[in-house]
Amino acid sequence: MKIKRLPDALINQIAAGEVVERPASVAKELVENAIDAGATRIDVAIEGGGIALLRIVDDGSGMTREDAEIAFERHATSKIESFDDLTRIGSFGFRGEALPSIASVSQLTLTTRPKESEEGTQVTVNGGAAPLLEPIGARPGTTVEVRELFFNVPARRKFLKSVPTEVGHLQEVIFTAALGRPELTLTFTKDGRPVAEYLRVTSRAQRAESVWGVKEKLSRCAGTRGKIEVEAFLSAPERARAGTGHLYLFVNGRSVRDRAALRAVAQGYGSVLEPGKFPVGVVYVDLPKEEVDVNVHPQKAEVRFADPRSVFDAVMYSIRDSLGRAGGAIDRGLSGASISVGYPLPQVGNPFAARTEATSGSHSSPQRAAEGVVPFEIRDGAWVGGAPSADLFGTENGFYAGLRFLAQLRGMFLLCEGKDGLYVLDQHAAAERVTFDRLRRAFQSSKLATQRLLVPEIVELSSRELALLDEREEEIAALGIEAKRSGPGSASVTALPKILSKKPGETLLRDVLAELWREAVRPFGGAQDLVLATMACHGSIRAGDAVSSEEAFALLAALDKVDFAGHCPHGRPVITRMSYGELERRVGR
Ligand SMILES: Nc1ncnc2c1ncn2[C@@H]1O[C@H](COP(=O)(O)OP(=O)(O)OP(=O)(O)O)[C@@H](O)[C@H]1O
Ligand SMILES: [Mg+2]
Repeated sequence: MKIKRLPDALINQIAAGEVVERPASVAKELVENAIDAGATRIDVAIEGGGIALLRIVDDGSGMTREDAEIAFERHATSKIESFDDLTRIGSFGFRGEALPSIASVSQLTLTTRPKESEEGTQVTVNGGAAPLLEPIGARPGTTVEVRELFFNVPARRKFLKSVPTEVGHLQEVIFTAALGRPELTLTFTKDGRPVAEYLRVTSRAQRAESVWGVKEKLSRCAGTRGKIEVEAFLSAPERARAGTGHLYLFVNGRSVRDRAALRAVAQGYGSVLEPGKFPVGVVYVDLPKEEVDVNVHPQKAEVRFADPRSVFDAVMYSIRDSLGRAGGAIDRGLSGASISVGYPLPQVGNPFAARTEATSGSHSSPQRAAEGVVPFEIRDGAWVGGAPSADLFGTENGFYAGLRFLAQLRGMFLLCEGKDGLYVLDQHAAAERVTFDRLRRAFQSSKLATQRLLVPEIVELSSRELALLDEREEEIAALGIEAKRSGPGSASVTALPKILSKKPGETLLRDVLAELWREAVRPFGGAQDLVLATMACHGSIRAGDAVSSEEAFALLAALDKVDFAGHCPHGRPVITRMSYGELERRVGR
C-alpha cells in the first residue's frame, strides 16, 4: 500500500460532492456570499435550468485582486480567524469552501471591484484548474458566472432532475433568501425572462405580506422567553398543508430544517391542526450566537441548539399565546350542536378570518340538514351518502354493522350502542378510512374512474408547485386528478376521481403536490399511499357535516369491508369504546 496526498483539484471535487448537489445549491452559496459582502441588491439569472449558466450579480463590498485570487484557495475565508469566532458566527460563510468547490465542477468566472478601486479583476477557473487573473473594467460589487455545472462529473449530472424541477429548487432558494432578508432587493431571471422580483422592504411583516399577502391571510405571532425571541407569520389552521413544505424556519437569519421547532409550531395551534398538517408561513427564531452551533451540516441546512428544549418551548408558547389572544374564548358547551373544531372562533378584529368546517363550502351541515335525509347513493362502489340496501353490503353482520347508531354529537362523533358498551366513532376518520380503502383498491387495479368537472376549477399555484405539476402530470392523472398549467401562476383542474363524494379540487391538488414534493426531496416508500390518504381526507365526510342515521348505518356497514378499519389512513383511531361495566362504575352502581 502506498499513501498519496490528493491533488487540490480532486480534494475540491470531493468537497463539492457534499456542498454542491445541484444548481440550487450553487445559487444558495453565491447568494449567501453576496449577503455576507453587504449587498443590498442581488440579481440571479439562469439558463437551461441553471446547468448551462447561473449568474449572480451583487453590489456588495467587492474584492481586491489579492483577495479574489486567494478566495479560490481551499479554507481561505475572510469571515473567521479563530476557534472563538467559530463559536459565534454571524455570517453565512465560515469554511472557505464554497468557491473552490463550485469552481472545481464548473467553468467559473468571477468579476469583482471594491468601490474604492479604479479597476476590477476577473478570475477564470476551468474545472478546478489554477485561477487565471486579469484586470478588467467593472462596476463595484461582484459578479459570478457558473457555466456547464458538473461538465467534468458526468455521474452528478445524471442525477439532476428535469429542468422544471431544478428551476423549482432555484426559485425556492431565491424565495427563502427574500424571506430571510427583507432589506434586500432580489430578482430572478430565467432564460432572459424575469420571473420573480422581491423589492426591499423594512420589516419581516412587510416581506411576509408581500410574498403571501394575496393568497394567505397571515397572523403575526411573537414572544420572548429568556434570551430567545420568536416572530412568526402564520396562516389560519384551515389553510394548513400536509407536511412542512410551506412552513419556513429561520434561526438567526439562517434558513434551517428543524423538525422539533416545526412540531412546536404545530403544537402551538393545539388540536385545531390535524396530525401531519402544518400552517403556511414563516417562523424567525433569534437567540445569542453562542447558543447555536451552525457547523453541523455540509450544506448548513441544520443547526444544533445548546438548549433545544427551551427553543421548542419558546416557539410553542409564543404561537399558542398569540393565537389564543387573537381568538378569545371558545364555547366548549354541547349546545352548539353543529360544530366545534376547537380553535379560536372568529371575532371582530380577529386577524384569522377563520371559518369553521361547518360554515365553509357548500356541504355545510345546516344546509344538508335542511335538505333532510340524503337519498342513498353509490357510485363506482363508493359510499357517498344515504341508506344502503342490505344486499349491497352483504347480509353477514360484521362488527361495525352490529352497532346500533344512536346520535351524532357535535357534528363530529357518531354515538353507537354495542353489545358490550358505548362506542364513539370519529365520523371523519371513519369515512376517510373507507374512502382510502376504495381509492387504493381502484388505483391498484387501475380502475380509478374520473369524473369531468362541468366547469374546470382554476387553482392558484406557486411556481414550485407548477413545476412539479408539469413534470408529474401523468402520475397525477393516474390518481384521477386531471390538471394542467393554465397560466403563469395557475392550473386548471378538469377531472377528479369519481369515488370522492366531495370535489375539493383546489386543496386536493395542492396537498397531493405537497406529498409528491416531499417524495421528490426525500424519497421514501409509500408515497402513493400518502397521496391516496390525502385524497381520501379531502373527499370524505368531515367534522361538521351532518350525518343522517341512514348515512351512519351505511358508513358502519362499509367499515366492515375495510382492512385496518380501526384506524384512519393517517393512523388515528376511528373508534373508542366505553364498556357498560365502566359506565356503571362511573355512576356508582
Ligand atoms: N460576492 C462576494 N463579494 C465579496 N467577497 C466575496 C464574495 N464571494 C466570496 N467572497 C470572498 O471570498 C471568500 C471565500 O468565499 P467562500 O464562499 O469560498 O468561503 P466563505 O464564504 O468564507 O465560507 P463558506 O465555504 O462557508 O461559504 C469569502 O470569505 C469572501 O471573503
Ligand atoms: Mg461562502
